[in-house]
Amino acid sequence: MSLFLEEVSHGLSKKNKKISSKWFYDYRGSKLFEQITKLKEYYPTRTEIKILKDNKIEIANKIGKRAVLIEPGAGDIKKISIFLNNLDTPKKYIPLDISEDYIKKVSKTFKKKFPKIAITPIGYDFSGNNKLPFKILPSENVTIFFPGSTIGNFNKKDAIKFLQMLKTKFKAKKIIIGADLVKNIPTLISAYDDKKGVTKKFNKNILKRINSELGGNIDLNSYKHLAIYNKSKNRIEMKLKAKKNNKISINGSNYSIKKNEEIHTENSHKYTIQSFKNLAIKAGWKIKKTWVDDKKLFSVHCLVL
Ligand code: AVI
Repeated sequence: MSLFLEEVSHGLSKKNKKISSKWFYDYRGSKLFEQITKLKEYYPTRTEIKILKDNKIEIANKIGKRAVLIEPGAGDIKKISIFLNNLDTPKKYIPLDISEDYIKKVSKTFKKKFPKIAITPIGYDFSGNNKLPFKILPSENVTIFFPGSTIGNFNKKDAIKFLQMLKTKFKAKKIIIGADLVKNIPTLISAYDDKKGVTKKFNKNILKRINSELGGNIDLNSYKHLAIYNKSKNRIEMKLKAKKNNKISINGSNYSIKKNEEIHTENSHKYTIQSFKNLAIKAGWKIKKTWVDDKKLFSVHCLVL
């Protein structure tokens, strides 16, 4: 049984139904996410890019010489190019993404733009317990680049485990990481429920994948896209709410979903500088420097051991 099928059947059999947001990202999902990052309402990407541009020299100095740059969940790998030319003789760049097709394709354009930097794109699911698909020497200046507030998609426990794992498994010495900041609720909600409905399509891409990859028969129109802010947990929660009772069959198994029942598909945690500092400390890291934009919408941190 594939991991996708295993997780979907487990998640839909629960009382509180859920499917992990990592299943958004096949080729189409990655493309939809790319569209989200260009939406007027979705402030995180353009704000983080501005922070990276405004501070690229200082960021490059913090990273230091002969860096082995690893970017887990690299997506469209545009952000690293902001400070790549400011780095002192970088050794190599390893973008990792769950969608191998996607990462290999975008890396081709990158190779043309930065012919001097060795780039090794790898299809790799960093959320699992998979062995590292490359070797790292203990002496190397391994720097993890983890922008986009992807850390916010982990629950707190998993975020700590992930930051610890970067130290133990990836032998990271530094991390440059983006974290979305706590802010007024309407700004947050509209970023996850845009007028054009791109985020709705992105959310429903999980259902589309269940149909095409797992032989499901879900009617996508029977589900409503929801984005709500959970104040006590400081997070946006994305859900798919059934508009009517429906019976679905996936790979020969049946599931019934009642009218108004919700499938929880994503959490996107928002941090304050202080709550992010606490998280980093719990995982054995220290904040060396934090950069934010004028409106305090987004933060980029440099973590060291
Ligand atoms: C990838 N991740 C940081 C995005 C976020 O903002 O949590 C995913 C996303 N979900 C809906 N819109 C964007």
